[in-house]
Amino acid sequence: MLKVVVMVSGGGTNLQAIIDAVDNGTIRNTEIIGVIANNEGAYALERAKKAGIPSFVVSPKQYADRAEFNDALLNKVKELNPDLVVLAGFLVKIPEAFVHEYNHRIINIHPSLIPSFCGTGFYGLHVHEAALEKGVKVTGATVHFVDEGMDTGEIILQKPVMVEKGDTPEVLQKRVMEQAEWKILPKAIDMIANNEL
Ligand code: GAR
Repeated sequence: MLKVVVMVSGGGTNLQAIIDAVDNGTIRNTEIIGVIANNEGAYALERAKKAGIPSFVVSPKQYADRAEFNDALLNKVKELNPDLVVLAGFLVKIPEAFVHEYNHRIINIHPSLIPSFCGTGFYGLHVHEAALEKGVKVTGATVHFVDEGMDTGEIILQKPVMVEKGDTPEVLQKRVMEQAEWKILPKAIDMIANNEL
């Protein structure tokens, strides 16, 4: 059984996709052992509770400075002792010590086809705003390993999604989630859990 910790900041629709895929067998040989949010208001925490998954908040507000927060985040993960850490809309840069401790054991979902629209400042709705501003006709999502950089780690899976006439950032975000993110993130976890990478 692959033991997974999922880290979240917001609505948690990707977390929900993982929970559902574990429940219905799309993700095999995997157990979600905990959910960590950096923000106590994250709706993802409700989703974890409903699914009976232990959830934890590690927020920068609870600590004197960034270094203490970074330590607390890594300590909480180490305490849970997962095989894999999944960033599912976790909008905090993973500190270097964390990356080194979990080298090739942290994956992230990003809502574009990397290397387009990624790096500092490209998160959530901003990614789709930038894609529409540029006028791209195809966008998508990427699952990648997390390294010391921002969205620079080795790519695991990508899926393209068509931009349509009249798209708003919100409409495009929803299509990218439905057609790409909620499919490739569970798929990547299943592949890792079953040595199919
Ligand atoms: C998702 O679109 C995810 O790809 C994005 O945040 C959203 C979280 O939604 N992540 C990033 O932009 C990371 N750079 P969710 O909380 O409903 O899963």
